[in-house]
Amino acid sequence: MMRKVLPVLVAVTLAAIACAGTWAAEPFEPVDHRFCFTCHGTDGMGSEGIQAPRLAGMEPWYLKRQLELFREGGRGKHPSDIEGMEMQPMAVILTDEHIADIIDWAGTWEYKPAEPTLTGGNVDNGRRLYQACVMCHGDAAQGNEAMNAPALQGQNDWYLVTQLKNFKAGYRGTDPKDRYGAPMRAMTSSLANEQAIIDVVSYINTLGR
Ligand code: HEC
Ligand code: HEC
Repeated sequence: MMRKVLPVLVAVTLAAIACAGTWAAEPFEPVDHRFCFTCHGTDGMGSEGIQAPRLAGMEPWYLKRQLELFREGGRGKHPSDIEGMEMQPMAVILTDEHIADIIDWAGTWEYKPAEPTLTGGNVDNGRRLYQACVMCHGDAAQGNEAMNAPALQGQNDWYLVTQLKNFKAGYRGTDPKDRYGAPMRAMTSSLANEQAIIDVVSYINTLGR
């Protein structure tokens, strides 16, 4: 775990120093808080090695809410939420102005659905299980702001699996500040085990392509 994180933190620090240099030369382009690609991959397309998901194409309202939730410690504080704990300190250093700028910036990234990586899923069983998700996430997993539910289509499948496991185990969605995560956590009771999680994500992989 530390072996994976340390080089990243070093890279982030170096990027911040490099950006501070740029900032001195171009005072109207403060880019020091735009360090996200270090972990989230080229153009925000996600990085499986760091388990940091795709951000390109994410709904602005969801991106904003998650950054604020991480920042206030409502997500990424559970000691068993290994990946969330990598992200949480990154959000702590962001101001409201940084977050507003990141939302604008993220809107310029090209969106492409992530490549499926999962194997061993039963898509037919996944389709059956996904019927319990349609009400909030939509029949093509396109998301629904009115239900506060983000799009799932095109997201990295390994990330969706981790989140469903974390909700089910109570590593996400149990903090009192996580108002929108709590109802989602309740929904994972319809996914009996890891195979059910793999099945439903394998079905989500077929949507919106
Ligand atoms: C040190 C590596 C690292 C850096 C730097 C980093 N992130 Fe993350 N981020 C992660 C990881 C790992 C996750 C997955 C957390 C999880 O599994 O709960 C994540 C998750 C997220 C999520 C949640 C996505 C979702 O679908 O709920 C958002 C939003 C996010 N990061 C935005 C950002 C932004 C914006 C930046 C730049 C300001 C940034 N991250 C910088 C590692 C990082
Ligand atoms: C009652 C509405 C509701 C239902 C039904 C529901 N969800 Fe959600 N889901 C949400 C909300 C709201 C969020 C966002 C939580 C947050 O903002 O932190 C969410 C988040 C998620 C996430 C995390 C996405 C991310 O980018 O981090 C996954 C994965 C997910 N849902 C999968 C499912 C699956 C699979 C089902 C069906 C078994 C399902 N959901 C059913 C409301 C729902």
